[in-house]
Amino acid sequence: MTITIQFSKSLSSHQNPLIVPFYAHDVGAQCAAADFLSDKALSVISSIVSLQDENGFLGKDGQSLELYFAADVPEGARRVILFGLGEKRDMSAIAAENLGGKLCAILNGLSSQSVVVAGEGVEHPAHFVLGAALRSYRFERYKTMDQEKAQATQLKSLEFCAYDAEITQEEYQDLVPVLSGVELARDLVNEAPNALYPESYAALIAEELKPLGVDIEILDEKKMRKMGMGAIMAVGQGSERQPRMVVMRWKGKGVAKDAKPIALVGKGVTFDTGGISIKPSAGMDEMKMDMGGSAAVVGTMKTLALREAPAYVVGIVGLAENMPSANAYRPGDIVTSYAGKTIEVLNTDAEGRLVLADALAYVQEKYDPDTIIDLATLTGAMMVALGNEYCGTFANDDALWDDMSSAAKNADEKIWRMPLDDAWSKEMLSTVADLRNIGQSRFAGACTAAAFLQHFVDKGRKWAHMDIAGTAWVKKDKPTVPKFGTGFGVRTLNQLVKQAYDIAKD
Ligand code: BES
Ligand code: MG
Ligand code: ZN
Repeated sequence: MTITIQFSKSLSSHQNPLIVPFYAHDVGAQCAAADFLSDKALSVISSIVSLQDENGFLGKDGQSLELYFAADVPEGARRVILFGLGEKRDMSAIAAENLGGKLCAILNGLSSQSVVVAGEGVEHPAHFVLGAALRSYRFERYKTMDQEKAQATQLKSLEFCAYDAEITQEEYQDLVPVLSGVELARDLVNEAPNALYPESYAALIAEELKPLGVDIEILDEKKMRKMGMGAIMAVGQGSERQPRMVVMRWKGKGVAKDAKPIALVGKGVTFDTGGISIKPSAGMDEMKMDMGGSAAVVGTMKTLALREAPAYVVGIVGLAENMPSANAYRPGDIVTSYAGKTIEVLNTDAEGRLVLADALAYVQEKYDPDTIIDLATLTGAMMVALGNEYCGTFANDDALWDDMSSAAKNADEKIWRMPLDDAWSKEMLSTVADLRNIGQSRFAGACTAAAFLQHFVDKGRKWAHMDIAGTAWVKKDKPTVPKFGTGFGVRTLNQLVKQAYDIAKD
């Protein structure tokens, strides 16, 4: 859930608190909304700002100053919060989003249910508002105690006021599909693993996306077994909750009949105990986020459908729960994947690549995609390499990497190119089967995992693999991303599709 956003042309509502943005200026701070406020309000506020020394409010990026007035002096508001936007020349769309997010974080700590922003003069206002909305996300489905008390102090709505609020509102409406897709992805990642398991997840995807015009196909365990998807079936066999594969097809208006789709492939391990190669118990609860790749795919499909993207995109997610049990797959097992390649399982905790192997093979055979992007919380090694900041991204095509890099920059998601190499592809060959599911040392774990996946990508097909182990789930807030499920990937994928289709058409 996120806050309600409203737009209006004047500050008539007399609500508290009133947010007044300032730009940092050579000589202190300059009110962004100077020609929007009454002379009286402006002079009262400016006189206080002019009293600030170098330790005070200077309009710096994210700075704030809370003021109270004995009488209703500034536009009927007794409570005014000055908010710093930083230097005007630094105000890009992404900077505006981050500022909106920082404002929201400040307001979250202030116990006011609704605020009014004197938004005149703020650059990229729709992005500023989007940033606030993104940051306001909360997962509170399971909160039943003390709800009233908590809600009384939580920010519920933000009203953005400016002369051309209507234009800002229109621009904001164009961004709402992105917000909705990110919100869905976050909800899926944050959801408890007893509620979100392959069967319930598949049903939820259909419920969310079918009404938006996305074509849905669900493969159940009987179908998958019959089709020979021995890899994903092995991962799920230790669980009472049987695997699913869900295909989501979006073909927007104006797409050529013979167009090849972009395929988005997501790892959806709804809970990863590690299986027989079981993980340590401390922190295992976090492995409910092991379906973060699938969440990014589902969230992106929602965004594309909501904005009626003129694009052809096939999303596919492999859903399985990795559990130890009397029926679980074992280290030493050899399984036959959908592609026909046999895999020696040496560690049951390296399960994501098995799930992806079958999803990758199926989507290529059935849809002959022009480009494939897969997303997966695949390796702890990626977290060791790039932490929670950058998503390591492997690409077998330089032009595809360039497209992804610019898409990610535009989306304010950080990605970093990682290497594919024949040496790692060879390292993943087994002595008793075609492939082994772990490398031969503990080094370069993210790269050997990518090399394993590459064995399931047809020669000549453009492919990228995003290991989102460190970015799908964070334990510290970022300006537009509150902690836990982040929805990472939705914005980059949406932008990538936009670049490939919308922009090409313009
Ligand atoms: N889901 C994990 C990777 C992971 C770890 C994601 C931490 C997010 C945070 C994956 O299934 C896994 O267990 N990978 C193993 C692979 C190893 C056995 C080769 C790992 O990274 O330890
Ligand atoms: Mg694992
Ligand atoms: Zn996993």
